[in-house]
Amino acid sequence: ASTLGASAAQTGRYFGAAVAAHRLGDATYTGILNREFDMVTAENEMKMDATEPNRNQFSYGNADRIVNHARSQGKRVRGHTLAWHSQQPGWMRGMEGSALRSALVNHISKVAAYYRGKIYTWDVVNEAFADGGSGGRRDSNLQRTGNDWIEVAFRTARAADPGAKLCYNDYSIEDWSAAKTQGVYRMVRDFKSRGVPIDCVGLQAHFGTGIPGSFQTTLQNFASLGVDVQITELDIAGSGAQQADNYRRVTQACLAVARCNGITTWGIRDTDSWRYPGVSPLLFDGAGNKKPAYTAVLNAL
Ligand code: XIL
Repeated sequence: ASTLGASAAQTGRYFGAAVAAHRLGDATYTGILNREFDMVTAENEMKMDATEPNRNQFSYGNADRIVNHARSQGKRVRGHTLAWHSQQPGWMRGMEGSALRSALVNHISKVAAYYRGKIYTWDVVNEAFADGGSGGRRDSNLQRTGNDWIEVAFRTARAADPGAKLCYNDYSIEDWSAAKTQGVYRMVRDFKSRGVPIDCVGLQAHFGTGIPGSFQTTLQNFASLGVDVQITELDIAGSGAQQADNYRRVTQACLAVARCNGITTWGIRDTDSWRYPGVSPLLFDGAGNKKPAYTAVLNAL
Protein backbone atom coordinates (compact mmCIF):
# COMPACT_ATOMS: atom_id res chain seq x y z
CA ALA A 1 0.00 0.00 0.00
CA SER A 2 1.10 3.56 -0.56
CA THR A 3 0.36 5.21 2.80
CA LEU A 4 1.37 4.44 6.40
CA GLY A 5 -2.18 3.78 7.55
CA ALA A 6 -3.12 1.52 4.65
CA SER A 7 0.15 -0.40 4.94
CA ALA A 8 -0.29 -0.93 8.68
CA ALA A 9 -3.86 -2.06 8.07
CA GLN A 10 -2.62 -4.92 5.87
CA THR A 11 -1.52 -6.66 9.09
CA GLY A 12 -4.43 -5.45 11.22
CA ARG A 13 -2.46 -2.60 12.75
CA TYR A 14 -2.91 1.17 12.79
CA PHE A 15 -0.46 4.01 12.13
CA GLY A 16 -1.17 7.21 14.03
CA ALA A 17 0.09 10.69 14.73
CA ALA A 18 -0.19 13.15 17.59
CA VAL A 19 -2.19 16.15 16.40
CA ALA A 20 -2.43 19.71 17.71
CA ALA A 21 -5.81 21.43 17.33
CA HIS A 22 -4.17 24.76 16.48
CA ARG A 23 -2.49 23.22 13.42
CA LEU A 24 -5.64 21.79 11.81
CA GLY A 25 -5.99 24.96 9.74
CA ASP A 26 -2.58 24.36 8.13
CA ALA A 27 -3.41 22.72 4.79
CA THR A 28 -0.04 20.99 4.39
CA TYR A 29 -0.30 19.50 7.88
CA THR A 30 -3.90 18.41 7.55
CA GLY A 31 -3.28 17.08 4.06
CA ILE A 32 -0.59 14.73 5.34
CA LEU A 33 -2.71 13.76 8.34
CA ASN A 34 -5.73 12.92 6.19
CA ARG A 35 -3.67 10.97 3.65
CA GLU A 36 -1.23 8.99 5.78
CA PHE A 37 -2.57 8.28 9.27
CA ASP A 38 -5.56 6.27 10.51
CA MET A 39 -5.25 6.94 14.27
CA VAL A 40 -5.06 10.29 16.05
CA THR A 41 -3.81 11.29 19.52
CA ALA A 42 -4.44 14.80 20.87
CA GLU A 43 -0.97 16.16 21.66
CA ASN A 44 -2.20 18.27 24.62
CA GLU A 45 -5.94 18.81 24.30
CA MET A 46 -7.18 15.86 26.40
CA LYS A 47 -4.78 16.39 29.28
CA MET A 48 -6.18 17.26 32.70
CA ASP A 49 -5.40 20.98 32.50
CA ALA A 50 -7.16 21.21 29.13
CA THR A 51 -10.31 19.23 29.97
CA GLU A 52 -10.92 20.41 33.57
CA PRO A 53 -9.41 23.91 33.84
CA ASN A 54 -11.64 24.71 36.83
CA ARG A 55 -12.73 22.10 39.34
CA ASN A 56 -15.72 20.16 38.00
CA GLN A 57 -16.02 22.51 35.01
CA PHE A 58 -15.09 20.65 31.88
CA SER A 59 -13.85 22.11 28.63
CA TYR A 60 -13.79 19.98 25.50
CA GLY A 61 -13.58 22.51 22.66
CA ASN A 62 -10.07 21.81 21.42
CA ALA A 63 -10.28 18.07 22.12
CA ASP A 64 -13.56 17.91 20.21
CA ARG A 65 -11.97 19.70 17.25
CA ILE A 66 -9.47 16.85 17.02
CA VAL A 67 -11.96 14.04 17.71
CA ASN A 68 -14.46 15.42 15.20
CA HIS A 69 -11.80 15.87 12.54
CA ALA A 70 -10.53 12.33 13.08
CA ARG A 71 -13.98 10.75 13.04
CA SER A 72 -15.11 12.71 9.98
CA GLN A 73 -12.05 11.35 8.17
CA GLY A 74 -12.77 7.78 9.33
CA LYS A 75 -9.87 7.71 11.75
CA ARG A 76 -9.85 6.35 15.29
CA VAL A 77 -8.68 8.20 18.42
CA ARG A 78 -6.30 7.31 21.25
CA GLY A 79 -7.26 9.27 24.35
CA HIS A 80 -4.28 10.88 26.09
CA THR A 81 -4.37 11.08 29.09
CA LEU A 82 -6.71 10.78 32.10
CA ALA A 83 -4.18 10.87 34.95
CA TRP A 84 -0.66 12.31 34.98
CA HIS A 85 1.60 14.15 37.43
CA SER A 86 2.29 16.79 34.74
CA GLN A 87 -0.01 19.26 32.98
CA GLN A 88 -2.44 19.23 35.89
CA PRO A 89 -4.73 22.25 36.27
CA GLY A 90 -3.63 24.74 38.90
CA TRP A 91 -6.49 23.86 41.24
CA MET A 92 -5.36 20.22 41.33
CA ARG A 93 -1.64 20.82 41.82
CA GLY A 94 -2.13 22.03 45.36
CA MET A 95 -4.46 19.21 46.42
CA GLU A 96 -3.64 16.08 48.40
CA GLY A 97 -5.09 13.08 50.20
CA SER A 98 -8.72 12.01 49.94
CA ALA A 99 -9.81 15.29 48.36
CA LEU A 100 -7.33 14.78 45.50
CA ARG A 101 -8.34 11.13 45.17
CA SER A 102 -12.00 12.16 44.81
CA ALA A 103 -11.09 14.83 42.30
CA LEU A 104 -9.10 12.28 40.28
CA VAL A 105 -11.95 9.77 40.23
CA ASN A 106 -14.40 12.51 39.26
CA HIS A 107 -12.11 13.66 36.46
CA ILE A 108 -11.69 10.19 35.02
CA SER A 109 -15.41 9.39 35.29
CA LYS A 110 -16.53 12.59 33.63
CA VAL A 111 -13.99 12.72 30.79
CA ALA A 112 -14.20 9.02 29.92
CA ALA A 113 -18.02 9.16 30.04
CA TYR A 114 -18.10 12.26 27.81
CA TYR A 115 -16.09 10.42 25.15
CA ARG A 116 -17.72 7.03 25.77
CA GLY A 117 -17.84 5.04 22.52
CA LYS A 118 -15.49 7.40 20.65
CA ILE A 119 -12.11 6.34 22.01
CA TYR A 120 -10.24 3.26 20.77
CA THR A 121 -7.69 3.30 23.61
CA TRP A 122 -7.28 5.53 26.67
CA ASP A 123 -3.89 6.20 28.19
CA VAL A 124 -5.52 5.98 31.62
CA VAL A 125 -2.33 6.65 33.57
CA ASN A 126 0.78 8.29 32.14
CA GLU A 127 4.36 8.19 33.47
CA ALA A 128 3.73 6.91 37.02
CA PHE A 129 7.08 5.16 37.46
CA ALA A 130 10.36 6.69 38.60
CA ASP A 131 13.45 7.04 36.44
CA GLY A 132 16.69 5.50 37.62
CA GLY A 133 17.36 2.25 39.38
CA SER A 134 14.53 1.94 41.91
CA GLY A 135 11.89 0.33 39.70
CA GLY A 136 9.34 2.00 41.96
CA ARG A 137 6.68 4.64 41.62
CA ARG A 138 7.41 8.26 40.84
CA ASP A 139 6.69 10.61 43.72
CA SER A 140 3.72 12.84 42.88
CA ASN A 141 0.62 14.26 44.50
CA LEU A 142 -1.34 11.36 42.94
CA GLN A 143 1.08 8.73 44.27
CA ARG A 144 0.88 10.25 47.74
CA THR A 145 -2.90 9.55 47.80
CA GLY A 146 -1.99 5.84 48.12
CA ASN A 147 -0.30 3.17 46.01
CA ASP A 148 -3.68 1.89 44.80
CA TRP A 149 -4.36 5.08 42.84
CA ILE A 150 -3.45 3.46 39.53
CA GLU A 151 -5.79 0.51 39.87
CA VAL A 152 -8.57 2.82 41.04
CA ALA A 153 -7.96 4.92 37.91
CA PHE A 154 -8.27 1.85 35.67
CA ARG A 155 -11.44 0.59 37.38
CA THR A 156 -12.98 4.06 37.13
CA ALA A 157 -12.16 4.32 33.43
CA ARG A 158 -13.56 0.86 32.70
CA ALA A 159 -16.86 1.73 34.41
CA ALA A 160 -17.15 5.01 32.47
CA ASP A 161 -16.32 3.61 29.01
CA PRO A 162 -16.45 -0.20 28.94
CA GLY A 163 -15.66 -0.30 25.20
CA ALA A 164 -12.31 1.50 25.32
CA LYS A 165 -9.05 -0.38 25.67
CA LEU A 166 -7.24 0.85 28.76
CA CYS A 167 -3.48 1.47 28.58
CA TYR A 168 -0.68 2.24 30.99
CA ASN A 169 1.73 4.58 29.11
CA ASP A 170 5.34 5.50 29.94
CA TYR A 171 8.78 6.42 28.57
CA SER A 172 12.12 4.69 29.12
CA ILE A 173 10.43 1.28 29.37
CA GLU A 174 11.77 0.11 26.01
CA ASP A 175 14.99 -1.50 27.30
CA TRP A 176 14.10 -4.79 28.98
CA SER A 177 17.02 -4.55 31.43
CA ALA A 178 15.95 -1.16 32.82
CA ALA A 179 14.66 -1.14 36.40
CA LYS A 180 11.78 1.08 35.27
CA THR A 181 10.71 -1.49 32.65
CA GLN A 182 10.82 -4.20 35.30
CA GLY A 183 8.73 -2.13 37.68
CA VAL A 184 6.01 -1.52 35.09
CA TYR A 185 6.13 -5.20 34.11
CA ARG A 186 5.56 -6.28 37.72
CA MET A 187 2.59 -3.89 38.02
CA VAL A 188 0.95 -5.17 34.83
CA ARG A 189 1.53 -8.78 35.91
CA ASP A 190 -0.04 -8.01 39.28
CA PHE A 191 -3.03 -6.24 37.65
CA LYS A 192 -3.64 -9.19 35.32
CA SER A 193 -3.42 -11.68 38.21
CA ARG A 194 -5.93 -9.71 40.31
CA GLY A 195 -8.36 -8.81 37.54
CA VAL A 196 -7.61 -5.08 37.49
CA PRO A 197 -8.87 -3.97 34.06
CA ILE A 198 -5.81 -3.24 31.92
CA ASP A 199 -5.71 -4.01 28.20
CA CYS A 200 -2.46 -2.56 26.95
CA VAL A 201 0.91 -1.02 27.65
CA GLY A 202 1.96 2.06 25.71
CA LEU A 203 5.68 2.49 25.13
CA GLN A 204 6.31 6.14 24.30
CA ALA A 205 9.54 5.42 22.40
CA HIS A 206 11.15 8.87 22.43
CA PHE A 207 14.52 7.68 21.19
CA GLY A 208 17.99 9.15 20.77
CA THR A 209 20.21 7.85 17.99
CA GLY A 210 20.17 4.23 19.21
CA ILE A 211 17.33 1.75 19.74
CA PRO A 212 17.77 -0.69 22.66
CA GLY A 213 18.70 -4.12 21.31
CA SER A 214 16.09 -5.66 23.63
CA PHE A 215 13.17 -3.56 22.33
CA GLN A 216 11.41 -6.44 20.58
CA THR A 217 11.95 -8.66 23.65
CA THR A 218 10.33 -5.99 25.83
CA LEU A 219 7.31 -5.77 23.52
CA GLN A 220 6.98 -9.57 23.51
CA ASN A 221 7.36 -9.91 27.28
CA PHE A 222 4.62 -7.36 28.00
CA ALA A 223 2.40 -8.99 25.36
CA SER A 224 2.93 -12.38 26.98
CA LEU A 225 1.20 -11.04 30.10
CA GLY A 226 -1.99 -10.89 28.02
CA VAL A 227 -2.05 -7.22 27.03
CA ASP A 228 -1.66 -5.41 23.72
CA VAL A 229 1.41 -3.26 23.28
CA GLN A 230 1.37 0.00 21.33
CA ILE A 231 4.19 2.35 20.38
CA THR A 232 2.51 5.57 21.41
CA GLU A 233 4.79 8.59 20.95
CA LEU A 234 7.52 7.54 18.55
CA ASP A 235 10.21 10.03 17.57
CA ILE A 236 13.89 9.32 16.87
CA ALA A 237 16.87 11.68 16.84
CA GLY A 238 19.38 11.79 14.00
CA SER A 239 18.92 12.20 10.27
CA GLY A 240 19.28 10.50 6.92
CA ALA A 241 20.11 6.82 6.60
CA GLN A 242 20.83 6.30 10.31
CA GLN A 243 17.50 7.71 11.39
CA ALA A 244 15.76 5.71 8.68
CA ASP A 245 17.44 2.52 9.85
CA ASN A 246 16.32 3.13 13.42
CA TYR A 247 12.74 3.73 12.26
CA ARG A 248 12.97 0.47 10.29
CA ARG A 249 14.13 -1.40 13.41
CA VAL A 250 11.28 -0.07 15.52
CA THR A 251 8.71 -0.91 12.85
CA GLN A 252 10.11 -4.41 12.40
CA ALA A 253 10.09 -4.99 16.17
CA CYS A 254 6.39 -4.13 16.31
CA LEU A 255 5.55 -6.26 13.26
CA ALA A 256 7.35 -9.22 14.85
CA VAL A 257 5.09 -9.16 17.92
CA ALA A 258 1.51 -10.25 17.22
CA ARG A 259 0.03 -8.09 19.99
CA CYS A 260 1.92 -4.95 18.94
CA ASN A 261 -1.08 -3.52 17.16
CA GLY A 262 -0.13 0.02 16.34
CA ILE A 263 2.48 2.76 16.09
CA THR A 264 1.95 6.50 16.62
CA THR A 265 4.54 9.17 15.83
CA TRP A 266 4.54 12.19 18.16
CA GLY A 267 3.71 14.74 15.50
CA ILE A 268 3.76 14.88 11.71
CA ARG A 269 6.52 17.20 10.41
CA ASP A 270 9.86 17.81 12.14
CA THR A 271 8.79 21.39 12.78
CA ASP A 272 5.69 20.18 14.65
CA SER A 273 7.77 18.10 17.08
CA TRP A 274 8.08 18.95 20.77
CA ARG A 275 11.81 18.16 20.32
CA TYR A 276 12.32 20.69 17.48
CA PRO A 277 14.56 22.59 16.78
CA GLY A 278 17.14 20.62 18.74
CA VAL A 279 16.04 17.38 17.12
CA SER A 280 14.25 16.71 13.80
CA PRO A 281 12.77 13.36 14.76
CA LEU A 282 9.73 12.72 12.57
CA LEU A 283 8.86 11.20 9.16
CA PHE A 284 8.17 14.45 7.24
CA ASP A 285 10.40 17.51 6.96
CA GLY A 286 9.24 21.02 7.73
CA ALA A 287 7.93 21.44 4.19
CA GLY A 288 5.91 18.24 4.42
CA ASN A 289 8.23 16.14 2.23
CA LYS A 290 8.70 12.45 3.00
CA LYS A 291 12.08 11.77 4.63
CA PRO A 292 14.20 8.61 4.21
CA ALA A 293 12.71 7.52 7.55
CA TYR A 294 9.24 7.60 5.98
CA THR A 295 10.29 5.27 3.19
CA ALA A 296 11.98 2.93 5.66
CA VAL A 297 8.79 2.66 7.72
CA LEU A 298 6.55 2.22 4.68
CA ASN A 299 8.77 -0.54 3.33
CA ALA A 300 8.92 -2.31 6.71
CA LEU A 301 5.14 -2.30 7.28
C1 XIL B 1 4.31 16.99 25.24
C2 XIL B 1 3.77 17.83 24.10
O1 XIL B 1 4.26 17.32 22.89
C3 XIL B 1 4.18 19.27 24.28
O2 XIL B 1 3.52 20.10 23.33
C4 XIL B 1 3.85 19.77 25.69
O3 XIL B 1 4.38 21.06 25.87
C5 XIL B 1 4.41 18.84 26.74
O4 XIL B 1 3.94 17.52 26.49
N1 XIL B 1 5.25 12.35 27.14
C6 XIL B 1 3.88 12.48 26.97
C7 XIL B 1 3.33 13.57 26.14
O5 XIL B 1 3.13 11.60 27.42
O6 XIL B 1 2.08 14.02 26.60
C8 XIL B 1 4.29 14.73 26.06
O7 XIL B 1 3.77 15.69 25.14
C9 XIL B 1 5.67 14.26 25.65
C10 XIL B 1 6.23 13.29 26.65
